Amino acid sequence: MISSYPHLIDLNDYPPSWWKEVVELGEKIKNNPEIYSGACNGKIMATLFYEPSTRTQMSFQTAMLRLGGRLIGFDNPANSSVSKGETLKDTTKIVSNYADILVMRHPVAGAAKAAALSADCPVINAGDSGHLHPTQTLTDLLTLKCEKGRLDHLTIGLCGDLINGRTVHSLLKAMSCFEGNSFVLISTPELKLPSYIKDILKASGCPFKEVSSLEEVLPELDVLYMTRIQQERFSSREEYLAQKDTYILTVKKMKAAKPDMIVLHPLPRVDEIEVELDEDPRAMYFNQAKYGMYVRMALIITMINLKSETRLFHGKVYKDVSCKNPNCITCTEKYLPKSFIPIGDTMLQCEYCSERLLLER
Ligand code: NCD
Repeated sequence: MISSYPHLIDLNDYPPSWWKEVVELGEKIKNNPEIYSGACNGKIMATLFYEPSTRTQMSFQTAMLRLGGRLIGFDNPANSSVSKGETLKDTTKIVSNYADILVMRHPVAGAAKAAALSADCPVINAGDSGHLHPTQTLTDLLTLKCEKGRLDHLTIGLCGDLINGRTVHSLLKAMSCFEGNSFVLISTPELKLPSYIKDILKASGCPFKEVSSLEEVLPELDVLYMTRIQQERFSSREEYLAQKDTYILTVKKMKAAKPDMIVLHPLPRVDEIEVELDEDPRAMYFNQAKYGMYVRMALIITMINLKSETRLFHGKVYKDVSCKNPNCITCTEKYLPKSFIPIGDTMLQCEYCSERLLLER
């Protein structure tokens, strides 16, 4: 299925050379923002946030305003016709005719792809449940380029909620495309990385290991990407409490890290990084959030001027098969074509939420 608009649902919809161009433009904007102050004059961006956000929403909004554009949208679907039962399809169809570009965050996996199916303007995925978050990855790439000087030959530790952390999923998918990177996945057994992302790492040839101790691996790392435990994605409070506070980065622990290791965090922080660590020059998370604004300015300019079409599905539609993930958009938006990619002879991977299911024979 081809959409006649360019969308950014997953960074891997575009080649790494394209991401690099966006990141390079982000760096140019950071150095000379005034040159770009009229780049989106007369354009309107819609931000449809069905899930809470501070940085992603406001950095997109300030990015558009700084480019001379204007904004419409909601940050609480209860204030829109969504509360009257309007489908994602209808909301998207309408709003995409009011705006030149649409940015969507949603608590259900695959929502941005579903929106792109009916949108009459480019759609940017600003996070779909615990699945993907491509614009946080662009933020992370610009931060790495500016603060480490490269996107390759880095040993990156990712720590915390690796199963639900969409920023982790998108970052690993992207960084495994650059030469010489290796990954240390630090989590409890319950919060391990989903197997479909591990398969992507294996296919890329980038070495990775799964460990449970942060202290043991800290001295090896060039970058430590901390994440919060995503309370809202657990099925019970007990399960969340059992995981909470497992990993806390402290000033004391940081003594074992390389002098030039940087600490990243997509934020919000709960308590996984001690506040005292903010004074350490290696603590880069607040700068990272600012890089996010510049890279989103670059992304908006790029997407608004891009003339390409987007191929939204690569597999095929199976009329009699349903995705088994209760948090997949195909479960709530019943009209969507159920498209899957075959994995070997026995499995299918949902093209909305990436969940795998066994084919019944
Ligand atoms: C992250 C997100 O929303 O996925 N935050 C962000 O976009 N800056 C991380 C999180 O919520 O933990």
